[in-house]
Amino acid sequence: MTLGEVLRGATDYLASRGVDNPRRDAELLLARALGLARIELYTAHDRPLTEAERSAARELVQRRGRREPLAYVLGDWDFRRLTLKTDRRALVPRPETELVVERCLELLDGAESPRVVDVGTGSGAIALAIAQERPDARVHATDISADALELAAENAEANGLSVAFQQGDLLAGLPGPFGLIVSNPPYVGADEVDSLEPEVREWEPRGALVDDGQTARLVREAQQVLAGWLVLEVHEARAQEVSQDVEREGYSRIGITNDLAGKERVVEAWWGTTPSTA
Ligand SMILES: C[S@@+](CC[C@H](N)C(=O)[O-])C[C@H]1O[C@@H](n2cnc3c(N)ncnc32)[C@H](O)[C@@H]1O
Repeated sequence: MTLGEVLRGATDYLASRGVDNPRRDAELLLARALGLARIELYTAHDRPLTEAERSAARELVQRRGRREPLAYVLGDWDFRRLTLKTDRRALVPRPETELVVERCLELLDGAESPRVVDVGTGSGAIALAIAQERPDARVHATDISADALELAAENAEANGLSVAFQQGDLLAGLPGPFGLIVSNPPYVGADEVDSLEPEVREWEPRGALVDDGQTARLVREAQQVLAGWLVLEVHEARAQEVSQDVEREGYSRIGITNDLAGKERVVEAWWGTTPSTA
């Protein structure tokens, strides 16, 4: 069989399994199985595949056909300028979270060697991107999940970045003050889980998804250690609610940033007196 035939077969199979973007996924999986860049597939459609190559491709495509997230099957995923190892230990970093990092970097502009903490770091995506893009920042990261922290530490090592990881509940045990506290906490309602795609519902850690009051608690607990910005990724339907909550708690300079689809995604708020201390 040629590469083109295998690609067509894989695409049809993934489509029959309900995969959202079957052609793209088939290309990425086939390229990975063959050790090629995706673009190299286009000029190699007539190339016959060996049995070993077909079997490597089949294994990856079958995993994706079971609706395992593409990022877990590939084993890595790009996030801003980083390539992060991705597996079941943590949530797959999302494009909207890149926007959270973007906003943090803007808010940190002008701050000298800011102390930053990423709460619920998962794969380490936010903490590592800030550490990479603001090399003077002193970055801490916490997670309640030991598995997630293990993955985050592997990602720090693989990318040559330094982040102080600590296991714990939200900010427990972390001495302030921080110039920026950022978090993408679990924010899916328990009643929404059944309506999520199988990739999320059946494969990603439930503790990374379901809102158990973390956002509300973090808004309050951050006040003990924050002298600067709180930046939260929020459920697309709850930005107003979270903004009202931070306002009620006495934060100021509250703002909301929309994602590229126009959804309200990031809430920021200031806690402290001197705006220049971030
Ligand atoms: C939505 S995921 C975000 C992961 C990563 N920051 C990202 O943006 O890709 C939420 C993370 O918060 C962690 N988490 C949940 N409850 C927590 C708590 N009480 N304290 C600390 N981390 C918590 C989960 O283990 C998970 O890794």
